[in-house]
Amino acid sequence: MDKFDVIIVGAGASGLMCAIEAAKRGRRVKIVEHANKPGKKILMSGGGRCNFTNYSIAPENYISNNPHFCKSALSRFTQWDFLGFVQRHQIPFHERLHGQLFCDNSAKDILDALLKECGQAGVTLALNCRVDRLEKHSDGDFLLHTSNGLISASALVIASGGLSIPKMGATPFGYKVAEQFGIKVWPTRAGLVPLTLQPDDTKRFTPLTGIAVPCRVSNQQQSFKENILFTHRGLSGPAILQISSYWHPGEALNVDLLPDMDLSTEFKEKRRQGSKLKLQNLLTEYLPKRLLQALLDERQLDITVANCADKDLHAIAESLHNWTIKPNATEGYRTAEVTVGGVDCDAVSSKTMESLQVPGLYFVGEVLDVTGWLGGFNFQWAWASGWCAGQYV
Ligand code: FDA
Repeated sequence: MDKFDVIIVGAGASGLMCAIEAAKRGRRVKIVEHANKPGKKILMSGGGRCNFTNYSIAPENYISNNPHFCKSALSRFTQWDFLGFVQRHQIPFHERLHGQLFCDNSAKDILDALLKECGQAGVTLALNCRVDRLEKHSDGDFLLHTSNGLISASALVIASGGLSIPKMGATPFGYKVAEQFGIKVWPTRAGLVPLTLQPDDTKRFTPLTGIAVPCRVSNQQQSFKENILFTHRGLSGPAILQISSYWHPGEALNVDLLPDMDLSTEFKEKRRQGSKLKLQNLLTEYLPKRLLQALLDERQLDITVANCADKDLHAIAESLHNWTIKPNATEGYRTAEVTVGGVDCDAVSSKTMESLQVPGLYFVGEVLDVTGWLGGFNFQWAWASGWCAGQYV
């Protein structure tokens, strides 16, 4: 049987970061990964360019049943610390909207840098390695029965991620380990995911496939001003992905399709100017014609602003500023970027990421009930939580 100080299950963002930090402290570290390659999600992230962090990271950008849990790790390993890593490896990067930072060339630059540091620190990595069973021995060590044989360590780090994109290797392993040791797991659901529509709405909006418009999407809890994209399956785009993490089945979403203007004021102004424009021509200055046709009836669009009754103008403004749509479902884990819910943060130390009930057992990254917004927040959580655990394992 091979004995290590630390075994980490999962060679993703959080597992690799944890391994580097622990090995730099002189710990003998083994990563067990069931896929044939490490860091597959890093490689596919950010459209292949990995949105690795954000200039502006705050606890408010995370969803959790314990919203305070993420504060400690995020303040001890910040976006500036990860930027230091990126710069140390001379990885060229750029900023996009809302402070999002992406590689100039490829997400592979980030993975290569992590693997290089793992190599330099002496981390061993077992790929294609399945964990069939694990147990905690009476001496405190964890014993893992793997497809490559028995291994043991005094510290076990669960860095196996969430459920999104099963094709990339996602499994419920981490949740099962938590349950095996009596640790609570909050119900999970797909997050940062496109939404599908009710059958009638699908028929009505499918012809709009490919149209993207800036808007504000809100529910009772949150509001995001971003683009919405009509797809052949329903709704997507950053605004929808963001709100999807807060959406629950049966709930309606409110969409302001003209978030930067007040249409009623605009109508009044056009009337004052004596405009002879038909509403269709006036409104196509702001929104695509096909979208207007799907939301308003032809009769409404054919009339001039001067001839339209006040109450009808008000109704049109209301339809566009306050479009209410009740999605049918999410597209599920097949296309979700993240998993909302997971291992209960109240059962884990926010300083060390160690279980409060099971000494030596650590949880890092997405397996925990911490879910970031779109924009580099999920990787920052993976780096930060992995880094913290790496200081203590
Ligand atoms: P991660 O999923 O990275 O790693 C878990 C590892 O554990 C995997 O290698 C997996 O194969 C392995 N594993 C699972 N079960 C196992 C088992 N039973 N035995 C052994 N190994 C096992 N975030 C962001 O901030 N910016 C971005 O640009 C993107 N883009 C993006 C695109 C797409 C398409 C997806 C799906 C996700 C993103 N994300 C993102 C989210 C981000 O990828 C995610 O939050 C982090 O990768 C989570 O890191 P973890 O280390 O927790 O899990």
